[in-house]
Amino acid sequence: MAEFIALIPAAGSGSRMGEDIPKQYRPLASKPMIYHALRTLCSTERIGMVCVVLAPGDTEWARHDWSEFAGKIRVFGCGGATRAESVTNGLKALRAENHVQDQDWILVHDAARPGLSRALVERLLDQLAQDEIGGLLAVPLADTLKRADDTGRVMCTEPRERLWQAQTPQMFRTKLLLEALEKAPAGITDDASAVEALGFSPKLVTGDAYNFKVTYPQDLKLAELILQERTATQN
Ligand code: C5P
Repeated sequence: MAEFIALIPAAGSGSRMGEDIPKQYRPLASKPMIYHALRTLCSTERIGMVCVVLAPGDTEWARHDWSEFAGKIRVFGCGGATRAESVTNGLKALRAENHVQDQDWILVHDAARPGLSRALVERLLDQLAQDEIGGLLAVPLADTLKRADDTGRVMCTEPRERLWQAQTPQMFRTKLLLEALEKAPAGITDDASAVEALGFSPKLVTGDAYNFKVTYPQDLKLAELILQERTATQN
C-alpha cells in the first residue's frame, strides 16, 4: 500500500518579513514558526515520515530542540534557489535513501503555514488517497478582484467565480511530482502548477482561512492568536 510522506521545504529566506532570521524560524507562540506545521504533520498517524528541507549552511535549525519528533522526521540540507528546487532536491534525497517509492504520496507543506490543523490534513488524505492525480487544499476566493494598471489605478474588475486560493499541503505521488517539477516552467510558485503544466487537473479540497501563509510582518499577530487558541483547546 502507498505510504504518505510529508515534505516541508524550509530553505527560504523570507525576505518580505524584513527580518535577519529566516521566516520559518521566527518565534510564534513560543516556538519557531516551522514547529507548528511539524507538530501537526508528525501527529497525523497516517503520515509515516516528515522530511524537512533546509538551506545548505542553515545554522538556525540546530539551535532548537526537535527531540519530540525524533523517529518521525528526516532532515536534509539540500534546499535550492527556489521552492520548486528545494522540493525536487528533497524528493531526490528521500529516494536516494530508499525512503519513498514511485507510488507513495508526498504532501508538500510550506513551513510558513503554521495554522494547518490535523482535521485539514485528515480531510486531504481522505479525499485524495484514491485519486488518480492528487490535489491540494484551497479556499474559494471571497474578495472582489481588481487588476491594476502601471500607475496603481484599477484597470478592471476580474470575475471571481470559480477562483480558489491555493494552500498547502499539496499532495501528489512521488513519480508524478518529481517529473512535473523537473519539467516545470520557470517561475511556478506551487507544486500543483507543475502538475497542471503536464496536462493534469489536480483536485481542489476545501481548506480554511486559518491555514494562511505568513508573509508580511502584520500576519504574525493573527497567526499568534490562532495558535494560542489552538493550544488552549488542545486541537
Ligand atoms: O517565500 P514563500 O513564503 O513563498 O515560501 C514558501 C515555502 O517555500 C517556505 O516554507 C520556504 O521556506 C520554502 N522555500 C524553500 N526554498 C526556497 C524558497 C522557499 O524551501 N528557495
